[in-house]
Amino acid sequence: MKTLGILTGGGDCPGLNAVIRAVAKTALTQYGYRVIGFRDGFEGLIHDRTIELDYEAVSGILTTGGTILGTSNKANPYEYWRKDEAGKGYKTDESETVISTYRRHNLDALVCIGGDGTLTIAHGLVQRGLNVVGVPKTIDNDIHGTDQTFGFDTAVNIIAEAVDRIQTTAIAHKRVMVVEVMGRNAGWLALYGGVAGGADIILVPEIPYDLDAIIERVKFRGGFESSFTVIVVAEGAKPKGGGQVVDRTVEGSHDPIRLGGIGKVLSTQIEDATGHESRVTVLGHIQRGGTTSPADRILCTQLGHKAMQLVAEGRFGLMACIQNGQLNSMSLDAPAGKQRTVPADHPLIAAARAVGTHFGVNA
Ligand code: F6P
Repeated sequence: MKTLGILTGGGDCPGLNAVIRAVAKTALTQYGYRVIGFRDGFEGLIHDRTIELDYEAVSGILTTGGTILGTSNKANPYEYWRKDEAGKGYKTDESETVISTYRRHNLDALVCIGGDGTLTIAHGLVQRGLNVVGVPKTIDNDIHGTDQTFGFDTAVNIIAEAVDRIQTTAIAHKRVMVVEVMGRNAGWLALYGGVAGGADIILVPEIPYDLDAIIERVKFRGGFESSFTVIVVAEGAKPKGGGQVVDRTVEGSHDPIRLGGIGKVLSTQIEDATGHESRVTVLGHIQRGGTTSPADRILCTQLGHKAMQLVAEGRFGLMACIQNGQLNSMSLDAPAGKQRTVPADHPLIAAARAVGTHFGVNA
């Protein structure tokens, strides 16, 4: 009997369990594999922590957020952080440990579900002779080479619902309400969530904003009876000629910079300049939690099934992806060093502008 390993790496994302389920059920029932899961991303391969993924273990998890395997955004086997006796951190290369664990379990293949960091590590393992297939994940939708990542639709639904709720209280108090959303250096979440929620101003990293233009817009809207303004700002948004607001750096993470705080900065600046009362809501990790949307459940089922097909066909070094609306595959290293950001001429920006949405610059 062949054996398949599965892990989830990097930050969690709605739909991870749905992909685990699709890969495992396809492997168990269509191809007769035994399936084991590694706990907490590559930690599981470094410390040999596994869980048997039989049919029962992967039943009833289609809709649930998080990951039954656990995850880690710090367990890079090539630069693994350990502490010496004095508590001082140092990096080691644990890739040989990962390879030994893979061999000890007689794995025929390993499916890595993760973002750019996990996929880059997976590619490195393929070059060392392991049979690895990937499935790209992130709510940010910023993985180069695939039209959409699972988790994005769920997060957009959460943002849209939050903006709907913010709008009623904004109207009641005639306030400026700033909603800060995730997305790293890409504005997909702000754009889609903001348009779906009917935000008045949307600020994305790809269009550096002009504070004066935003203030002018808020004052203009204040001239009407319904003098509220809802602003959706991406955590990576920045003013023209200025920088992003960094919340913290996470040592050992593939992308150690954690953005956050721009919402508060903007809210204060707008209130000071316009005299309109302003409040900020940071949606944060709410965007990554809870039930997976039906559209993501469908995408996850397709991607997981596709990944297992790649395994069964022996097409290693690839990941399942969506290109031109169709299921496809691409090399695990295709996204390395690149980010899929929102093009300035994206049709949704044009459509949003046509219905009166402002993007922080006077077009
Ligand atoms: O990449 C997904 C994401 O949620 C980003 O949108 C956000 O910047 C980051 O992860 C937050 O990371 P952490 O969970 O480490 O705070």
